[in-house]
Amino acid sequence: MRYDVKDLRLAAAGKQRIEWAGNQMPVLAQIRRRFRKEKPLKGQRVSACLHVTTETANLAVALKEGGAQVALCASNPLSTQDDVAAALVKQYGIPTFAIKGEDNKTYYKHLTQALAQKPTMTMDDGADLVTMVLKERRELIPGIMGGTEETTTGVVRLKAMEQGDVLGYPIVAVNDADTKHLFDNRYGTGQSTLDGILRATNILLAGTRVVVSGYGWVGRGVAARARGAGARVIVTEIDPTRALEAVMDGFEVMTMSEAARIGQVFITVTGNKGILRREHFRSMADGAIVCNSGHFNVEIDIPALEAMARSKRTVRPFVDEYVIRGGRRIYLLGEGRLINLASAEGHPASVMDMSFANQALSSEFLVKKARRLQRKVYRVPLEIDREIARLKLESMGIQVDRLTPDQKRYLASWEQGT
Ligand code: ADE
Repeated sequence: MRYDVKDLRLAAAGKQRIEWAGNQMPVLAQIRRRFRKEKPLKGQRVSACLHVTTETANLAVALKEGGAQVALCASNPLSTQDDVAAALVKQYGIPTFAIKGEDNKTYYKHLTQALAQKPTMTMDDGADLVTMVLKERRELIPGIMGGTEETTTGVVRLKAMEQGDVLGYPIVAVNDADTKHLFDNRYGTGQSTLDGILRATNILLAGTRVVVSGYGWVGRGVAARARGAGARVIVTEIDPTRALEAVMDGFEVMTMSEAARIGQVFITVTGNKGILRREHFRSMADGAIVCNSGHFNVEIDIPALEAMARSKRTVRPFVDEYVIRGGRRIYLLGEGRLINLASAEGHPASVMDMSFANQALSSEFLVKKARRLQRKVYRVPLEIDREIARLKLESMGIQVDRLTPDQKRYLASWEQGT
């Protein structure tokens, strides 16, 4: 078996952590038990480009037990958990190509290696694998029945491919399932982003002015959790409706030019580039901390910061100090990459349970339905989405009411009014 991981001796520790995460993933575990019996993915070769974490390991094992041959590479150079990568290879026999801190060249080499098995299905978090297939490996397209996409940024790129009529095969946008983005993006990123900042810096959030840039599901989650920790939260947005929502949620809303002058911790979660730029760094106070939890490391203009800096040094793991004009220090966390995965462990398993249940069931859906799908981006079928919510509630021991026959009739009718 081919693989490229940091150190196979980490495998035992990785296995223990994978099992710990598995304990918090009851929905995926149920799917995995059914997959083991029914083998719905028999004969499939799944090439997955996902953050190599304990949660992803549980997904990969479920896919393998469903009959798939799985190859895994990282979807970010800094998000790999090396013990997990080792365990996947040594304990679970899953070819894994991922090393935390790999450079860009190795990152792309690993994508190539994950594609070497000539996949019948791709699984992406950020669309890098699909992009590589489209740009460099077009000969693989006829053999690929479909793919799935985990994150907002990936779905945006895939929809651009669909618009440009270049998408090579159908994609299921796992991100757009309610049981994914309402929970993973909001509560998962909300909590894990603060976890990453705290592990990297050990700052006190209470009383600190935290600027959250972007008020999508992730921004809403980060802002809410920061407020819960006692931070004084400012939101910046470009969308008037979202900005208004932030105002009515009780946050201060202003432009980044204003926020840059008063913020102490800056968190970008927009999915766009150039959110923190030269003019913002210039007006930041001494000691400002800047970080990102959007998918790509483009939200903070790091080249501008580098160019402005008189000096740069690493003062703690994942904390780089830049000294700019007047001796002011700006601290960049995790090289501007996803801070929740760079310095912490990403989203907790309990929320990834739903995201990865969507991934597993979407791969089964593709096997059943891909022949009838076009080269388009599809939503996860509503029945799957609902079923995951039902199973999650059940695993939490929570019962909900059902419509009475009379209520059903009422909802389907129009005659009865005031
Ligand atoms: N994305 C965010 N958190 C994650 C995790 N724990 N595992 C895989 N992908 C993630």
